[in-house]
Amino acid sequence: MQLPLLAEPAAILSATSMRQTARSGTFTDNLRLPLHRWFRYSAGFSAEWAEQVIAEYRSGSSFTVLDPFAGSGTTLLAAEKSGVAAFGFESHPFVQRIAEAKLAWPIESADVAAAAETVCVAARRPAAFAAHVSGAPDLLKRCYTDSALAELYAMRNAYESLRDAGHPAAQLIWLAVTCVLRQCSGAGTAQWQYVLPNKSKSKVASPLIAFQAKIDQFLADMRIAHAQGWRSDARVFSHDARNSDMPIQPNSIDLVVTSPPYANNYDYADATRLEMMFWGEITGWGDLQGAVRKHIIRSCSQHSAADKVDLSVTVGHSSLAAIAPEIQVVCDELADVRLGKGGKKAYHTMVAAYFLDMAATFASLRSACKSGATMCFVVGDSAPYGVYVPVDRWLGELAVANGFKSFRFNKLRDRNTKWKNRKHTVPLHEGQLWIEG
Ligand SMILES: C[S@@+](CC[C@H](N)C(=O)[O-])C[C@H]1O[C@@H](n2cnc3c(N)ncnc32)[C@H](O)[C@@H]1O
Repeated sequence: MQLPLLAEPAAILSATSMRQTARSGTFTDNLRLPLHRWFRYSAGFSAEWAEQVIAEYRSGSSFTVLDPFAGSGTTLLAAEKSGVAAFGFESHPFVQRIAEAKLAWPIESADVAAAAETVCVAARRPAAFAAHVSGAPDLLKRCYTDSALAELYAMRNAYESLRDAGHPAAQLIWLAVTCVLRQCSGAGTAQWQYVLPNKSKSKVASPLIAFQAKIDQFLADMRIAHAQGWRSDARVFSHDARNSDMPIQPNSIDLVVTSPPYANNYDYADATRLEMMFWGEITGWGDLQGAVRKHIIRSCSQHSAADKVDLSVTVGHSSLAAIAPEIQVVCDELADVRLGKGGKKAYHTMVAAYFLDMAATFASLRSACKSGATMCFVVGDSAPYGVYVPVDRWLGELAVANGFKSFRFNKLRDRNTKWKNRKHTVPLHEGQLWIEG
């Protein structure tokens, strides 16, 4: 198996390249990069690393990259900067809009400035939205002062008018308002984490000032991308990676650069509750299952519990045959261990459903990819309730069972701090799963 990036001895990789590889799993470095820095997505990975992988593998004029778990669009923007064709799938409706809005950077700056001015004018007259504030969902009332919420509602209303009029900058306005929501909340809202209404922050931005600063950042970064001649045709589809009925041509992909949800109970739906509630897409936590979770990989116990996953049917599914004996043992152990835990979390069905979903994803990717394609998955393993799940190896085996030729895992770092309850000391890791064929 020839793996240009990883088969080389470390000594002949440049220092920059090694640093980028080591930091591939983190979004933090993107906060200094034009366009990537617009929205801080803590589930994201490094854009410079994605560019590096694309540079290593690109060949021929029809070379095409796919990110089936596109998130905030890191791979797609890295491909545009590299001048390479790219597609992405993202099935979380809110996250897909973020990626799509970032990909709208090529529009005219004058359109963005004009639309932003409309929003600013509206935000200076928040009094008209006092009634909206009094009828606001409780979570929003706990996160914002009345005046901040009225200003934000005025902005929302201005955005809706732009959208309804088909204004070319509407998506970017939506993104700018979305980006300032956490900055303007007095409640604890760690970046892109769940909301903590009982904690308060010392630094709270004014909606209007934060919005204007965001628009200035957009305009500056758009100028950079234009000046550097970035390609501008990447697309992110609202599509479920598990679904083999794809919006792209079969056998068209040369390289997959991606990071799927990890089987670590991170709830992508709850992480967007504040934003989706502000935009009126959900009215409460109870809506998240139908609005978000049903569209995404089952990687948290709330999801598999709500789905009423049948363990024996799932583990016994023919798509999991390659790992069936092992996953059966792990899920049975989890089913047993949970009974002794207060939360009785449904990790046993979460693990089974996660791998069934990923098996379906590999089947779809097999038909999307050309023969001889390369895929790189940034992934981490997990140990719910201290029961070890060899995620990278099982994913590799499922990829091979679905027609890929081989896999290899390159560990980048140890991690065992993610689990809040840290009741176990099982060593965990994160790295790159390279799949060939
Ligand atoms: C680890 S994040 C990827 C982040 C991305 N690399 C970035 O830098 O922004 C995984 C993403 O997969 C999305 N996702 C989950 N299930 C999916 C599915 N079935 N199809 C497509 N996307 C999905 C999640 O919403 C999440 O945004």
